[in-house]
Amino acid sequence: MPNPIFVLGSTNTDMTIRGERLPLPGETISDGSFLMAAGGKGANQAVAVARLYPQGRCVFLGKVGDDLFGRETEARLKAEGIEPRLVVDREQASGTALILVDRQGQNCISVALGANGTFSPQEALPLLQDLSQAAALLLQLETPMETVLQAARVARQAGVPVLLNPAPARELPPELYPLLDWITPNEREAQQLTGVPVEDEESAARAAGILQARGVPHVLITLGSQGCWCSATGRLHPARKVKAVDCVAAGDTFNGAFAVALAESLPWEEAIAFAQEAAALSVTRPGAQPSIPRREELSR
Ligand code: RIB
Repeated sequence: MPNPIFVLGSTNTDMTIRGERLPLPGETISDGSFLMAAGGKGANQAVAVARLYPQGRCVFLGKVGDDLFGRETEARLKAEGIEPRLVVDREQASGTALILVDRQGQNCISVALGANGTFSPQEALPLLQDLSQAAALLLQLETPMETVLQAARVARQAGVPVLLNPAPARELPPELYPLLDWITPNEREAQQLTGVPVEDEESAARAAGILQARGVPHVLITLGSQGCWCSATGRLHPARKVKAVDCVAAGDTFNGAFAVALAESLPWEEAIAFAQEAAALSVTRPGAQPSIPRREELSR
């Protein structure tokens, strides 16, 4: 069996209302429909790995509250075939997200991190014992920075490639960059990290150059419907045209799929096409985890 992919990150329960448009501050809109579904950037990426890597295995490391949402999260991860390694916080609630989605599929998200925000390096360390077996470690930023940093250090010592999806964007400690193999911001996150307004191929290449100068060898910047720019191929990969229903977790699907493609040693061009196909399918469906496709739905 191929080596497992480890994902360390957040789990949330997403409460989503889909309406015609997003309300303005102070405005009430009452045309929405409601969906409650599993989410959280870390758990979404783990589910993408599990559904797209049927011959492999996914291990998920995170923290939940001692509550109904925490118990449901564990059960759902197991049902996906993921090995959950969850710390339980008796003081904090499990993570939750309130999400609004408009008719074009655009969204805004407000997250109460709860237990995700107290996942400490001391709690994570014992869960990383067998990380050296992993094909890759996938990280995001809904987890405390010191825990992200420590996981990246352990992976580097074990010779395991690290992918960081820097979402939601936060300033990164300089010592984190050289521990990464890939950084995968979207255009807004790339701008926040570098100060370069990322709008097209040229500005994406400039922002990537800044990130590489800080020590990360490979940069992949996603640009929504324009596609993504990759330092390994040196070009923009145009996105597939689809009718977007809900873009929540499109980035997570992309990242999970890309990690699978790297674990399968696909050439860069194919790895990107694979991740783009998975992400494109996810935006045609509502919800975070409900929208993530399975391997048999993809062309490779
Ligand atoms: O990336 C999408 C995710 O962001 C949602 O599932 C929500 O929980 C927030 O973490």
